[in-house]
Formats: sequence, C-alpha cells, structure tokens
Amino acid sequence: MDIRETVLRQLKSHREGFSLEQPFYIDQDYFRLDMEMIWYRDWLFMGHDCEIPRAGNYFTAQIGDYPVVIVRGRDKIIRAFHNTCRHRGHRVCTAQKGASAKLVCPYHQWTYDLDGSLVFARQMGEDFDKAQFGMKQVHCESVGGYIFICLADEAPDFSAVRQTIEPYIAPHRLWESKVAFESTIVEKGNWKLVWENNRECYHCAGNHPELCRTYPEAPSATGVQGAADDPVISEHWQRCEQAGLPSAFTMHQSGQFRVARMPLIEDAESYTMSGKRAVKRPLSDDVTISHIGTMLLFHYPTTWNHMLVDHAISFRVLPLSAEETQVTTKWLVHKDAVEGVDYDLHELTHVWQMTNDQDRSIVEENAFGIRSPAYEPGPYSPDHEGGVMQFVEWYTNFMTERLQGDRAKLSAVA
Ligand code: FES
Ligand SMILES: [Fe+2]
Repeated sequence: MDIRETVLRQLKSHREGFSLEQPFYIDQDYFRLDMEMIWYRDWLFMGHDCEIPRAGNYFTAQIGDYPVVIVRGRDKIIRAFHNTCRHRGHRVCTAQKGASAKLVCPYHQWTYDLDGSLVFARQMGEDFDKAQFGMKQVHCESVGGYIFICLADEAPDFSAVRQTIEPYIAPHRLWESKVAFESTIVEKGNWKLVWENNRECYHCAGNHPELCRTYPEAPSATGVQGAADDPVISEHWQRCEQAGLPSAFTMHQSGQFRVARMPLIEDAESYTMSGKRAVKRPLSDDVTISHIGTMLLFHYPTTWNHMLVDHAISFRVLPLSAEETQVTTKWLVHKDAVEGVDYDLHELTHVWQMTNDQDRSIVEENAFGIRSPAYEPGPYSPDHEGGVMQFVEWYTNFMTERLQGDRAKLSAVA
C-alpha cells in the first residue's frame, strides 16, 4: 500500500489519549511524509530580526533537503531565499552567518544583490538574460522580532499568527535586543518526541531541579486548558494587562500556536538559581512593572519561547532525520546590556543549559524504549499531559487534513 494511505489509516485509528504508534517515531518513510506535509509547507520560525540588524547581514539554515539564507536588504526588509545558486546549484552562502554587500557564489562568483536579483555573471554570452536567474525567494514574515519562513509555493495565511502573537510579544521589544548566547544541541530522537517532552511538566519535579526553583510544574502553567479559574493566574493576568501587557491564555482554533503569560514561583523574576534577575538592564522599557512572570509562546512545529522581565529565551526545533533533532536555544538581552557588567553569562544561561541537557537525555531514553519491538502506545495523564495530548491531536488532525486534501486533489486530476 502507498505510504500515504498507510499513514492516513493509522492516523485515523489513533487511540485518543495515547502516544503514537512506533513508526511515527522511527520510520524513514513516515519521517519523509512529516517533512513534506508539515515542514515543507508551513510557517517555520528561523531566527530573530536583531541577529541581522544591518543591510547585508545574513544567516543560513537547513530544513530537511532545503538550504535557505535569510538576509536583510538595503531597504531594511528581511527576505529569505533558497540557498542554491542559479548557475549550477552550489550553496551561495556557506557560512552560518555573515555580512556581505552582495551574495557571491564561491564556485564561479555569480553575484546576487541583497534582494536576490542576479547582478553579475562572468562571460555567459551575449544572449544571457540575468533577469531570468535571480535567487528563488522563500516566503518570509517578521513579527515582533521573530522571523518566520515558508518553503511552500503557496504559503498558508500568516495573518492569524501575526494578529494573535504580536500584541503579546511586542512589549518585549525583541527587535532591540541581542543574542547574548546561543547553543545548538542534537537530540537523538524524533522531532515529535522533543515536542511531547516540551508540552508537559509531569517530568519536571523528577528531572529539572534547577528549573523547578522558579518554574511552576502545575499543568495550568504549561498545559492548554487555559487557567482563568486559577486565582493566582487570573490575578497575574489582571495585573499585567493593567500595565499594558496582554497576558490571558489564547490559543488558535487550529491548536498550532498559543500565547499566555504565566507567573513564576513566589518572588522569582527570572530563570536563575536565586530567582532574581540575571540581567540588570531590563529587556524592554515598555515593561513598567516587576514580576511579570514568563510570556509563553509556542508555534508548531518549530518554536517555544519564554519572555521574562530581564531576558527572553527562544527555542528552535529542526528535524535532521527520523531519529535526530536539532534544538537551538538563544538567550536575548537588551542590546545595550554589557556582559560582565549587566549580566554574568553563566548565571544567565545555567538553568536552561542544564534543563536542555536533561531534556535531551529524556528524549534519547524515550527514543531507546520506543525502538523496542515491545513498545506499544501508552496512556497520557489526563491531569498533567493535556499539552501532549493537544500536540498529538494537532499533529494527527493536521496530517490527516493534508493527506486527505492531497488525495482529493489527485483524484480531481485523474
Ligand atoms: S554554481 Fe554558483 S556560480 Fe557556478
Ligand atoms: Fe523538560
């Protein structure tokens, strides 16, 4: 049977409230289908505006088979391109990041302007029309300091993402921040295991002693059920909203993204061992109150985020193979904050460096057990793993809709 039909049938028979069948976590063909249906078609968080502040600043990324480059133009606009030369396909930008007045392919020096147009190609003959060989553009949107791209020819509508998340993230003024530190790790497990682990704090007390000093393990903080009936949380929302910080739990009807501002434990203001701020210079001058907790944003399939009073942390998930996932974490502070004066790098990054490493180990052990022929889908905790159920539900619905949509299109053609 065609892999699409096999996967579709399996998605339809998925037992609600249980983890997925084994091939969803380990099989190469299932993985390729995930890439095609989700990663090559939907909006993906790539990085931050502040990482490419000036014209000609760029960074590159690899999404499955697609190398991309994201660059700021002289008109200040951020654009994304397929990073494959229109001559014979060499990668145009080979570094992870850089700065360049033009994008020059290292192979034969075809030279592209920052808007992707080809401006120079040596000795290509009289008839050669440069206008036909510009770099291929990738859809690109910037919202509140976050850069999203979409590899599809036709991108899904981005306006709902923008409308929902912009009011929540704008007060943090991340476009005026800088990356104080970034780390990239590879977790030997499927990208969905990385997400499942992220979407619950059932594992926190037993695994994250550093994070648990400041982050509440209560499912109302991490989960997806909202938390308006929790008096501590609703009081927090009221106080923050009065100060101009949108805070109440909001999830898009598709289940693909959510924002909510959650209080930290007791007096904590930041993810440090003491709970005190790690950075003296506040992240944003628009935040006028203390103890704002953490603004949580997730957007499937690439990113979850924490925005605090003194810094913000973004996480980017990129699948490398069926059983390997890259996770990049960035710690953002105000652009004028000075290392060694306003913050100590170890103090700033310690809690999440430890937490990431603990989560990597959990995901890898999870993957080990799932590889066993004895593995069978197990039940999620209704009290603690609502977020995981929501992720799995989003995944199964999303895949089912797209697979069915493609089937309908194919039969219409036939
Ligand atoms: S492949 Fe890029 S210039 Fe030849
Ligand atoms: Fe964790």
